[in-house]
Amino acid sequence: MIPPNHFDAEYYRRYYDDPRTAVVNRKIQKNEVAFVIAFCRHIGLDVRRFTDAGAGTGWWAKEFSRRYPACRHVETFDASEAACYLYGHRQVSLQNLPGPPSDLVVCRDVLRYVSDAQIGRVIRRLTRKCRGVLYLQVITRDDEIDKDASDMAGVFRTTAWYRRQMKAAGFRDCGMGLLVSGAYRKFSPFSLEVR
Ligand SMILES: C[S@@+](CC[C@H](N)C(=O)[O-])C[C@H]1O[C@@H](n2cnc3c(N)ncnc32)[C@H](O)[C@@H]1O
Repeated sequence: MIPPNHFDAEYYRRYYDDPRTAVVNRKIQKNEVAFVIAFCRHIGLDVRRFTDAGAGTGWWAKEFSRRYPACRHVETFDASEAACYLYGHRQVSLQNLPGPPSDLVVCRDVLRYVSDAQIGRVIRRLTRKCRGVLYLQVITRDDEIDKDASDMAGVFRTTAWYRRQMKAAGFRDCGMGLLVSGAYRKFSPFSLEVR
């Protein structure tokens, strides 16, 4: 169980704002957002609604808005009181993710903080919330983690476990965290079967 004050102002300073200890830098941010937008364009997805679920400092939505100004509806949620106060999100936990479905939903490094008791509910909420692409990044037991540089709190499940859950929820896994919702009927990937 993660204590409620785990994600306080000091957490965001250490892992995001201080360049000496930050886990992401501007270059990573720009490249990652550009990559996901390129994928959406490639599959013909017009992003009219964007959601960042567990937004932290909000860097993803900020960079997204800069690169994709045509999207008028950008919403950011986080469970942390400090994050909502500092970065202006709506204080909502993923267990209660509200509102109509979005074309692009980002959920980046959040699910490992969700307990086993709650993870099923959270995946159902994310599924309901996404009508296009879900960009999901989760640290798993299979990853090599720099334990000194990273926050080591949370539940480290296996990659296979997440893959199974997302498939059962109707997502098509395109790799690199890109999951296409079963609700996006226009998606028809070129498929190559290797026997
Ligand atoms: C490691 S940070 C990642 C922030 C951001 N997504 C990123 O990639 O930079 C994890 C964030 O998830 C939020 N969080 C953790 N559990 C959550 C939950 N159940 N619902 C919503 N937000 C949650 C925390 O408050 C924190 O801001």
